[in-house]
Amino acid sequence: MKGVLLAGGLGSRLLPMTRVTNKHLLPVYDRPMIYFPLQQLVHAGIRDILVVTGGDHAGDFLKLLRNGHDFGLGHLRYAYQEGEGGIAEALGLAEHFAAGEPLAVILGDNIFQDSLAEPIARFRDDPDGAKILLKEVHDPERFGVATVEGDQVTRIVEKPARPESRLAVTGCYLYDPRVFEVIRELEPSGRGELEITDVNNRYVEWGALRHHVVSGWWADAGTVGSLHRATGLVAADRENPVLTDLGIDGGTDRAQPPAGTH
Ligand code: G1P
Repeated sequence: MKGVLLAGGLGSRLLPMTRVTNKHLLPVYDRPMIYFPLQQLVHAGIRDILVVTGGDHAGDFLKLLRNGHDFGLGHLRYAYQEGEGGIAEALGLAEHFAAGEPLAVILGDNIFQDSLAEPIARFRDDPDGAKILLKEVHDPERFGVATVEGDQVTRIVEKPARPESRLAVTGCYLYDPRVFEVIRELEPSGRGELEITDVNNRYVEWGALRHHVVSGWWADAGTVGSLHRATGLVAADRENPVLTDLGIDGGTDRAQPPAGTH
């Protein structure tokens, strides 16, 4: 199983902070936002990871993450999204990288309190169809919202004015390789993007979408309010290895000075 970390977009909801940098490089308490989803993939045992970014500051991801050694990785891969074609378009750039393997996809602004290792491992053992991770929230109209009947997701609506439930679709998605066929057939939405919600609804039509409701808090740090909330949640949870350890074996934590320094 391979990992894809999606970190493109203009971050216009965070202007002016994003005028001179990419949203995912902004700090959330003690580290850049993108560290948290990358830590999640590494904690889930994923070692082959593609970072998809774009815009004017893409080179800064290379400077920051380099070859992934700080996270205990042997290497990291990168792809560049031209334009603002949406999350599903960005994921489409991962087809060559995926090379027929199932994928764990995570958005670069999504921070989960608890480890995602268990739902990811269960999908890895039975990688057919797709799986989405849901979280009950008080402001579902900001997200993709899932309607669940029995144990089935029956539809997902992107940012509905009148949500049918409080179950937000978080930014972690698990897919079998058919996802690239789905992406090729998508049409742009009203906001001119290829929507990840349309991808997930295709799996609903096939009866092939599973779901898992995450425990612990979840934050998407893409707006001023949610970035502030995420920073407070991370700051209050300093004993949590998912938030503090960088990666394999706890990684080389930033608190460790290089040998020979004081
Ligand atoms: C995207 C997805 C949405 C999902 C959210 C999670 O929204 O389109 O379905 O609930 O991520 O963070 P965006 O942040 O692009 O508005």
